[in-house]
Amino acid sequence: MTNIKLSATAKIPTGKPGRVFVIGVTTQDSKLVLLPHRLETAALHELDLSALGVSSKLESISRFPGPDGSVLALIGAGVEELDEDSLREVAASAVRKLDGAKEIVFDLPTDDDRDAVSVLEGALLGNYKYASAVPNDLGKGKPSVKQSITSITVLTDKKVSSGAIERSRVLAQSVHRVRDLVNTPPNLLFPGSFADIVGKEAKAFDVTVTVLEEKALKAGRFGGILAVGQGSSRPPRLVKIEYAPKKSKQHLALVGKGITFDTGGISIKPAASMVGMKYDMTGAATVYQAILAIAALKLPVKVTSYLCLAENMPSGTAIRPNDVIQIRNGKTVEVLNTDAEGRLVLADGLSAASELNPDLIIDVATLTGAARVALGDRYSALMGTSDAVSAVEAAAFDSGELVWHMPLPAEMRERLNTDVADIANAKIGSTAGGMLLAGVFLREFVGSTKPGAKPQAWAHLDIAGTANNEGAAYGYTPKGATGVALRTLVTVAEGMSR
Ligand code: BES
Ligand code: ZN
Ligand code: ZN
Repeated sequence: MTNIKLSATAKIPTGKPGRVFVIGVTTQDSKLVLLPHRLETAALHELDLSALGVSSKLESISRFPGPDGSVLALIGAGVEELDEDSLREVAASAVRKLDGAKEIVFDLPTDDDRDAVSVLEGALLGNYKYASAVPNDLGKGKPSVKQSITSITVLTDKKVSSGAIERSRVLAQSVHRVRDLVNTPPNLLFPGSFADIVGKEAKAFDVTVTVLEEKALKAGRFGGILAVGQGSSRPPRLVKIEYAPKKSKQHLALVGKGITFDTGGISIKPAASMVGMKYDMTGAATVYQAILAIAALKLPVKVTSYLCLAENMPSGTAIRPNDVIQIRNGKTVEVLNTDAEGRLVLADGLSAASELNPDLIIDVATLTGAARVALGDRYSALMGTSDAVSAVEAAAFDSGELVWHMPLPAEMRERLNTDVADIANAKIGSTAGGMLLAGVFLREFVGSTKPGAKPQAWAHLDIAGTANNEGAAYGYTPKGATGVALRTLVTVAEGMSR
């Protein structure tokens, strides 16, 4: 994908075989109409488009002969006016449907340069289908992007900067990497192999990687990560990645849940709920690729990412319900449900991040099934302190990602009271507000434990509903891992660079 030529131009390329012109179709007064375009299409006006199967429905595409051996593709653009995100979606579905195309030219209405870049970004994001489960693991096998495409052009008279075009390339590439990592089968991707991938891949970026193995985790008192990982023959890891450019005013810390497989542990999941639990490391993959993208874009903001990696397995060495463990910040936790493991590894990550006193901490996690129950699979849940929530909400909106602000009710805290530790990790016998209760638990590990310390800005993204698309591909969302939240994180970092 790296090599696809991207351009924005007002000059209409000539027709030739392998080149596809994409024009949008909408419905007005119950008649099909082409969206404003630049290409000469007089020949189409003679045709009864609906009789030929053309439709304005999203995901619908019809092909006609274009000039000089080229193809003219009419893509359903829905009936609403195209905003930045619907341009992404429409461009993406065209790319997904245009098998074999070499050069794709988008002739869609663009009101400004952001619209034009959105077309390119959507086209790149949509060019993805997980290709290989064979020991490709580490990105060396079959690529997940269409190899036929050599160039993507957007026709526009707006001036588009090369920086904006390169940004869309970096974002799409990073989203693709998240998807590849998450889609990788869990026999191939486990804490040690994940840490090795980071060690190798990050070498090409201006970042420093520190991998804490078991001994260092013990010495560092990372009791949550160790406890969750202790049932697996494949030991846990904490990966710390730092990007510290010379010029930076602010510091962003990112913490990701990286359970490479979540069986539930001794509180084992039913067979059907366990399928898909390879996705439980999405948070870690996201904060990992986000910091690489931020480094690639050379943003003047300091960033530290923590990948909290463990495999949650039941075994003779696994943690059991009623065990009491101690988190990095000194607080003790009674584990009442070993399937509420994400909050235990994040507690360590949030404690470590808090020690750095960053301007903002964001954690990303496939944390609760309750997130899916509450918000479905298109809205990620957002919780946290009010300034942090506003910043993430604005960045998500700019990126075209959907988040919904949920509360952290203080009175829920007492549901986690226990006689034997500072806090329990779950409320047994009640599922009420499960997503909120998880957030209330995490809050206990945010901020310095030193008396008089200033409050820590913090946002929590529960992406359990949005990380994985179980249905068919739509827009730029493929089947399987979606890569959600990465663009929001990079946009937050951009906001902190100004
Ligand atoms: N990894 C799961 C959450 C999850 C569920 C993600 C479905 C994606 C899809 C998490 O570790 C978990 O099992 N949470 C429990 C918490 C409960 C035991 C308090 C849950 O949601 O049931
Ligand atoms: Zn779990
Ligand atoms: Zn989990």
